[in-house]
Amino acid sequence: MNENRSIAFFDEQFRRQPNDVALKLNPFEALALPYLTGDVLDFGCGLGNLAFAAAGRGCTVTALDGSPAAIEHIRCRAATEGASVFASLADLRDYPLTREYDCVVSIGLLMFFNCSTAFRVLADLQAHVRPGGVAVINVLVEGTTYLEMFDPLDHCLFAPSELQHRFAGWTIERMEFADFEAPQNTLKRFCTAVAQKRAA
Ligand SMILES: C[S@@+](CC[C@H](N)C(=O)[O-])C[C@H]1O[C@@H](n2cnc3c(N)ncnc32)[C@H](O)[C@@H]1O
Repeated sequence: MNENRSIAFFDEQFRRQPNDVALKLNPFEALALPYLTGDVLDFGCGLGNLAFAAAGRGCTVTALDGSPAAIEHIRCRAATEGASVFASLADLRDYPLTREYDCVVSIGLLMFFNCSTAFRVLADLQAHVRPGGVAVINVLVEGTTYLEMFDPLDHCLFAPSELQHRFAGWTIERMEFADFEAPQNTLKRFCTAVAQKRAA
């Protein structure tokens, strides 16, 4: 797999012994969890906290990420706990999805791709949600200083209304914005969309 700066950054973080904070659901994962049912794809799963929480509620989770440390951690934990979490290492800029899922979740990933890749991958994720299923997508809509930390050229700052627009024709269950501090006294703002695909 081609080395990429955002993967390398997170892989180094995940390689350190995960502490209690790193193993807790972040606010976006906590928002997503109640919407996850059945066969779930966690696309850019990090350490898999959401995947294990969903498995604990009866879901079967396919967990994909580009960080070898994260995937190793998830595989060990799944084996120890006997959890239905199946992790694979992949560069998600160009990952061939081969089937539909009841729920597809991607938190904090797409902004690390250039915009044409991010929009193509988002469309592909949407296409692999079964009719009546749910997508939970979280992206950055403000905060270039945060993105430049990873790669000054190759990233995508979504427009604030981008997810609303891209989920036209779906039922929007939630569309939430959340702000956090970013480098150089700036702000990073994330948008999380929870949307249900029209039933067939
Ligand atoms: C901000 S973290 C989010 C992780 C998790 N979804 C969460 O909410 O904690 C971004 C994740 O995207 C992964 N990532 C970034 N670029 C990637 C790529 N090209 N292919 C696969 N994974 C990638 C990183 O390894 C990291 O786990």
